[in-house]
Amino acid sequence: MLVKLLIIDDDQVIRDVLKGIFEDQSFEIFLAADGESGLRIIREHRPNLAIIDINLPGKSGLEILKDAKQIDSKISVIIATGYNTTQNAIEAMKFGAFDYLAKPFNILEVQEVVAKGLASNLLSRKVKFSLESSEIIGDSPDEDIMIGSSPQMMEIWKKIGRVATSDETVLIEGESGTGKELLARAIYTNSARNHRPFLAVNCAAMPENLLESDLFGHEKGAFTDAQTRRIGKFEQCNGGTLFLDEISEMSLLNQSKLLRVLENKSFQRVGGNEEIHTDIRIVAAANRNLQEEVNRGRFRLDLFYRLQVVSFHIPPLRERQEDIPLLIDLFVRQNAIKYGKKNLRVTPETVNFLSSLHWKGNIRELKNAISAAVVFTTGEVLQPDDFTQLKQDNYRQAFGDRNKLDHFRECVKTAFHELCCNRPGAIFQLLSSKLETHLVDLAMEHCNNNQVAAAKLLGISRNTLRKRLDCSGDTVQDAT
Ligand SMILES: Nc1ncnc2c1ncn2[C@@H]1O[C@H](COP(=O)(O)OP(=O)(O)OP(=O)(O)O)[C@@H](O)[C@H]1O
Ligand SMILES: [Mg+2]
Repeated sequence: MLVKLLIIDDDQVIRDVLKGIFEDQSFEIFLAADGESGLRIIREHRPNLAIIDINLPGKSGLEILKDAKQIDSKISVIIATGYNTTQNAIEAMKFGAFDYLAKPFNILEVQEVVAKGLASNLLSRKVKFSLESSEIIGDSPDEDIMIGSSPQMMEIWKKIGRVATSDETVLIEGESGTGKELLARAIYTNSARNHRPFLAVNCAAMPENLLESDLFGHEKGAFTDAQTRRIGKFEQCNGGTLFLDEISEMSLLNQSKLLRVLENKSFQRVGGNEEIHTDIRIVAAANRNLQEEVNRGRFRLDLFYRLQVVSFHIPPLRERQEDIPLLIDLFVRQNAIKYGKKNLRVTPETVNFLSSLHWKGNIRELKNAISAAVVFTTGEVLQPDDFTQLKQDNYRQAFGDRNKLDHFRECVKTAFHELCCNRPGAIFQLLSSKLETHLVDLAMEHCNNNQVAAAKLLGISRNTLRKRLDCSGDTVQDAT
């Protein structure tokens, strides 16, 4: 997908400088010397990001910002400002600007702000959820796809439909890589707020005070480094949806400030006393169990209740194996198109092999493994051998470290030597049936005697499990 960048500035030198910074980064760059031609480009080419000079001839940069947002509410706009107009540029963030850059430009800062603006633009791309991948052509520039047909995912699709249009706060829990961010975006895409901003904040990525001013903003002089006022995400995202990722990592101080915003729909900037009203929908995600965090005293109970008005739990991939073939099909098609290997196929053995793995890193791990295999394969058919690294990793994940395996071998060895003397000719049958009995017992215990769950955990059919259970009953009777 080619990223499109628009630069609107009446100064040719500035246009050339900015173009020079980005032209070797495979961006498609558009240049405009005034607002009206910039807006025309936005209408025709839908750039992902625009850098707009605040002082333009004719309509000002701020007016162009508002018009640009009318045409495409998702475009990330960065306002370029001189020293005298910095305050206006800061205020522009209330009208949907993503950020501002002060002239003279610092190249690294420009690159960093543009990278963040682009990431934010891609985050608000449409997400379509689907039960099958056949209709998907490839890497669409306009939307991402979230796929799944397991009963658990079907429940999630239904729930999205029920809750997306309401303004309720949403909590999404699930292991890393299960699709929490994608689900948050699917909820946003299907909500009534989908023409308003969608901004994301990773609560684990910043120390307490930086997160506080990122969320709530600060007044000039609020602390030593606060040389100008800062507009926080709660103000910038007014009317939209704020995705609070890794919320379990938020400090207790910020948790209490967040609770206050949720209850009062208003807040104060750090160091300020003006009460600012905000209308924001919160979608939060956590890869730790928030109830457990509450029990450990690390998360406020009242905030937990407030957040989980609507809650989703995305199960790990190993608990929804039906989705694996679908995901393989999707990722192989997408990568085959991306890397120009249109005839690439997967064998049923490969699908079986990939379905049997543990997938500790969930869908992200599967997606990365398929990308790597598609890049490195030389043939037209993906075989289990194209995933050699994965085989080793999963073997390690499934069996832990070498010591545990050695210990297991030693236990079998003792039994083996005894049986060599007492029951020659019956060793294989005796040991393997004992192993099966233990596995079935352990699985039933692990799943609270739920046969369906235990069979799924072991990777055998329910009938086979029943037979093994019957046999272990016989063994007990035999022994008595
Ligand atoms: N159901 C799905 N269908 C297709 N792709 C998916 C699905 N779920 C997740 N993905 C893809 O898997 C990757 C990981 O998803 P995502 O970033 O949403 O996970 P996450 O739960 O937020 O992970 P983390 O906790 O590590 O932040 C992304 O590339 C996403 O597009
Ligand atoms: Mg995430």
